[in-house]
Amino acid sequence: MTHTVVMHSHRGGTGKSTMLANMALLMAAEGRRVALIDTDIQSPALDVLFRLPHGECSLTDYLMGSCEIEDATHQVSPEGVYLVPARTDASSLGQIMTRGYDVGLLPEAFSRLGDLYDLDVLLVDTHAGLNNETVTSMASADVLATALRVDRVDLAGADEIVPLAWQLACRRALVISMAPEGADAEQARKRAERVYGAPTVGVLPYVAELAALGGNQIFAEAHPGHPLMAEFREIISALV
Ligand SMILES: Nc1ncnc2c1ncn2[C@@H]1O[C@H](COP(=O)(O)OP(=O)(O)O)[C@@H](O)[C@H]1O
Ligand SMILES: [Mg+2]
Repeated sequence: MTHTVVMHSHRGGTGKSTMLANMALLMAAEGRRVALIDTDIQSPALDVLFRLPHGECSLTDYLMGSCEIEDATHQVSPEGVYLVPARTDASSLGQIMTRGYDVGLLPEAFSRLGDLYDLDVLLVDTHAGLNNETVTSMASADVLATALRVDRVDLAGADEIVPLAWQLACRRALVISMAPEGADAEQARKRAERVYGAPTVGVLPYVAELAALGGNQIFAEAHPGHPLMAEFREIISALV
């Protein structure tokens, strides 16, 4: 059975794509069969982080009926991480926004990917806030992970996400990103848990070396010995 983890946030820039890319590489290195699917059609990131060439078949092409999901699935690391990019060129965004698509195709893709690649884990990246792809992805989740910074805007997102999450059968968890240091971190964690009504499975600090990479390399590849790897591994064991 494939375990589906959906990573979501109320606001952009909370580190969802960064976390998922790193977690996928670490999981594959441990021998798990893992795929990433980027449902963030508005602002895709995983194709860039994994340096997928422009014009490769994508989730958008699949949703528009121009290819099968396996045509849109690319092996992006020697350890065997598979990636379905959201889209790899600009023109398809206009097409999908004007034409729309059958939302049933997304859960169908998740289950087909699990079967075809015999996946242990499917990691689903999402656009910030709520849209069709995100809500549909959430409905297929075994675990819904919410990434947030502890500031008032990210906490305000709970008003929208919590009522929706109550209707889902999945487990929920929080990952606090770019956390303040020291005693503030503990307070931040308690506040996030109170507001979102879910346990925290990871608290990631702001890491200057990660920001300095500027997306040129995935952190786990550039700094495999960094203490952040232990944090990512803890998140993996709590979510999977
Ligand atoms: N823990 C961190 N410390 C420092 N910078 C980070 C951290 N996590 C992510 N970033 C940076 O923040 C930016 C946004 O991250 P990203 O993963 O694209 O967020 P999202 O997918 O939630 O929009 C990127 O430039 C990324 O390198
Ligand atoms: Mg992203």
